[in-house]
Amino acid sequence: MSSLAEAPTRGITTRPIHPTFGLEITGLDVTKPIDAETLDWLKDMSSKHKLLLFKGQNLSTGDLNAFAQKFGDTAQPPPKTSATVTRTDNITELGTQGGAPASGYEVVARFWHVDSSWRPIPTWLTLLTAVEMPEGEGHTGFADMEAAYNALSDERKAFLEGKQMVHSFTALRRYENTIPPMAEEDVPPPAVHPVVCTVDGRKVLFLSNQTCYYVGNMPFEEGCALYEELIAHATSPQFVYEHVWSPGDLAMWDDRTTMHRAVPYDSSKRRIMHRAEVKGTQVPS
Ligand SMILES: [Fe+2]
Repeated sequence: MSSLAEAPTRGITTRPIHPTFGLEITGLDVTKPIDAETLDWLKDMSSKHKLLLFKGQNLSTGDLNAFAQKFGDTAQPPPKTSATVTRTDNITELGTQGGAPASGYEVVARFWHVDSSWRPIPTWLTLLTAVEMPEGEGHTGFADMEAAYNALSDERKAFLEGKQMVHSFTALRRYENTIPPMAEEDVPPPAVHPVVCTVDGRKVLFLSNQTCYYVGNMPFEEGCALYEELIAHATSPQFVYEHVWSPGDLAMWDDRTTMHRAVPYDSSKRRIMHRAEVKGTQVPS
């Protein structure tokens, strides 16, 4: 695991947060200038550990956007009809306002998913910061999709080679019927991605329980059953880390190698999160 010696900037320390993935980084104020060597180290850590946590950052929308842009292009908001509250500085505000039922889009955030998996090139990194959090709930779950792949039997791994899935934004309505219908011109086309992808030389399962519901290249009913089996496997407790937020925390994760979800909470309570997404640069393969 990472140690102080690996961090190029003095004062940065790291702490693993789960046996297979996730790293807490302390001693780095992400609003301050970051030299190229430290930025490369952060990219390397995000690839190796998949999820980075920075506590007590208390970022404005401008700070969050500026930090995200150090990693790549960010202007990749979801389709306009899915906006939950407001956007400022390329930041999408998510969550619940308190005193009202959760929107359909907030309901589906409770399903395990990858951000923008329905795009031909899905999101690379998501940055999420907690602004307001209900007491004792409102956590976020993360699943390690490399560990989940590695734990499959050799027979299952071989069977999944070459299998693909349709990732469709409109599949959201399959899970949550309060999501409003979209005008035809607003519906993004679906994407087809492999079930097993190779990321930075490591094989991972690429699933999303919002936008998919069957494995293709096989009989439909069997493909649905296999999909359910894979989701249940990949979200087994040994592959999951659940983050208990404090306001001001920043999480940054690699969407190519993880799934995440909002852990169900009392949505009559106020929970405000700010999110930036860094565009991917390669078609999953
Ligand atoms: Fe998400």
